[in-house]
Amino acid sequence: MLERAQIIKFQQRGDEKGWLVAVESGNEIPFDIKRIFYIFGTQGNVVRGKHANRKSEFVLINLAGSSKVRVDYGDSEEVFVLDSPDTGLYIPKLVWKDMYDFSPDSVLLVLSNEQYDTQEYIRDKQQYCKEIGVTE
Ligand code: TYD
Repeated sequence: MLERAQIIKFQQRGDEKGWLVAVESGNEIPFDIKRIFYIFGTQGNVVRGKHANRKSEFVLINLAGSSKVRVDYGDSEEVFVLDSPDTGLYIPKLVWKDMYDFSPDSVLLVLSNEQYDTQEYIRDKQQYCKEIGVTE
């Protein structure tokens, strides 16, 4: 069975100056961070992602605003709402994912254990199901 996605709660360090969240490879983040990208300015009716990765793992954090993430393991799916900078969603490799319902102010930060490589993206759902051995 594929490893499941899971929510990671980060400690918020607050004082009279405001809030701060710190995340480190090997502590809050279960891999060595090799890539960071962020998604913003996506219309609420747009679905992003629509792929699985053969090697990349991710932690998604909605720094501002909110979005939803649907993860699909071929035979079952789960939906996560990301709406707080103290909450991350860990997505293991070989999990199909869609990001959608972005609020107008959404800034979705993504950390990954791999540099960008188009070859390790599976963008065809049938191919995905074939690779993980699930009949669609
Ligand atoms: P895309 O994969 O379509 O984004 P999403 O999965 O969120 O729908 O990527 C959008 C563009 O950004 C595309 O031209 C590829 C490029 N890109 C990079 O150059 N590096 C990256 O790490 C990522 C994720 C995308």
